[in-house]
Amino acid sequence: MNATDSTATEVRKGLNGVIVDYTAVSKVVPETNSLTYRGYPVQELVEHCTFEDVAYLLWNGELPTPEQKEEFERTERSLRGIPQALVDLVDGLPQDCHPMDVCRTAVSWIGAHDAQAGDRSVDGVRRIGLNLLAKLPTVVAYDMRRRRGLGFIAPSPDRSIAENYLYMAFGDGEGSPATRPDDVEAFDQSLTLYAEHSFNASTFTGRVIASTTSDTYSAVTGAIGALKGPLHGGANEAVMHNFLEVGDPDRAEAWVLDKADRKEKIMGFGHRVYKRGDSRVPSMEAAMRRTAANHDGAKWVEMYEKMQDAMEKRTGILPNLDFPAGPTYYMLGIDIPFFTPIFVIARVVGWTAHIAEQNADNALIRPLSAYNGEPQRSVNDRPAA
Ligand code: COA
Repeated sequence: MNATDSTATEVRKGLNGVIVDYTAVSKVVPETNSLTYRGYPVQELVEHCTFEDVAYLLWNGELPTPEQKEEFERTERSLRGIPQALVDLVDGLPQDCHPMDVCRTAVSWIGAHDAQAGDRSVDGVRRIGLNLLAKLPTVVAYDMRRRRGLGFIAPSPDRSIAENYLYMAFGDGEGSPATRPDDVEAFDQSLTLYAEHSFNASTFTGRVIASTTSDTYSAVTGAIGALKGPLHGGANEAVMHNFLEVGDPDRAEAWVLDKADRKEKIMGFGHRVYKRGDSRVPSMEAAMRRTAANHDGAKWVEMYEKMQDAMEKRTGILPNLDFPAGPTYYMLGIDIPFFTPIFVIARVVGWTAHIAEQNADNALIRPLSAYNGEPQRSVNDRPAA
């Protein structure tokens, strides 16, 4: 609801519809269901490029030449290792805390140990982004293993980011998704789709923190906090809990209609910007279908279709990226609480691309509020006790 007072003519709750700055990183066009990273449609990037290409593109503005790609990958792979002290830090955190808490703490720890954390230049922010892109998969994969009672697997310098993550989480024994090219590809594509999405809540959080001229690790730590919420990144976990609650495709329609009738939100549907469908869904849905074909997952696909149909018929609300991503990660064998940390691994690229952009042309982000509390009064006028 809009309200007025003497300091503001209009309140836009949730900054809905407010344009707060320019960005050259990505463009969302809800009318045409399109999302471009540095001008390239995300659907084309998913088809033709690896997540490494996309990370390079988001940071540098252009896709890499073969030489640039080789150097980029060499540097990223050289940064994947984490010190024993960080492994110990992860081990010291409770097994039942949310893995996003581990991510947040790890980023803060890595920042505290980086003597160049305060370098706010474009190159400095990219270096930090690459450091986090290299190290976060190692942290997240180990966190899942330790909760399963398994030991640390050191990163491999011979694998892509996607394959290496699956390798560090599951090893390379028979049945590991790291050994299946289709699984690696589906996971890689999900990282591309999660990498960037203009001024979403976590990116905006990162930009707000950067705008105070704070350091990049602080901005990323704050962004992780914003991403954790179920209205944002946490939705991919909530989606899978819903699939498990539904349990059987035959119950899917009734489950959705019941929730809709009770006006309950169903995670994985709806979007602040897209009102006619999320442009990332077709690519992720295709990856989900391929994954299901390889993992005896027909049940999840049927459930997906029935829930989607029922939701559209009853409310007209369409799925967002989290809806196909949740079951895909589940079929790959990833434990549900790790779905959002995987989102972090991808989005750290977008966050740092935006932080570099914010730093390059900074204005402190400090909006106004419309006061609706007590009128001014004096402590001397209080009634006697
Ligand atoms: N399930 C059921 N109803 C939904 C819905 C959902 N997932 N998303 C939106 N709606 C309904 C709201 O209840 C509201 O109905 P009303 O006008 O009758 O009150 C209307 O659609 C507008 O929703 P609102 O939450 O105000 O829009 P928004 O632009 O602020 O919401 C989201 C965007 C993403 C927060 C919202 O769609 C949502 O909560 N989705 C579920 C969480 C999720 O999947 N997040 C990941 C986003 S990528």
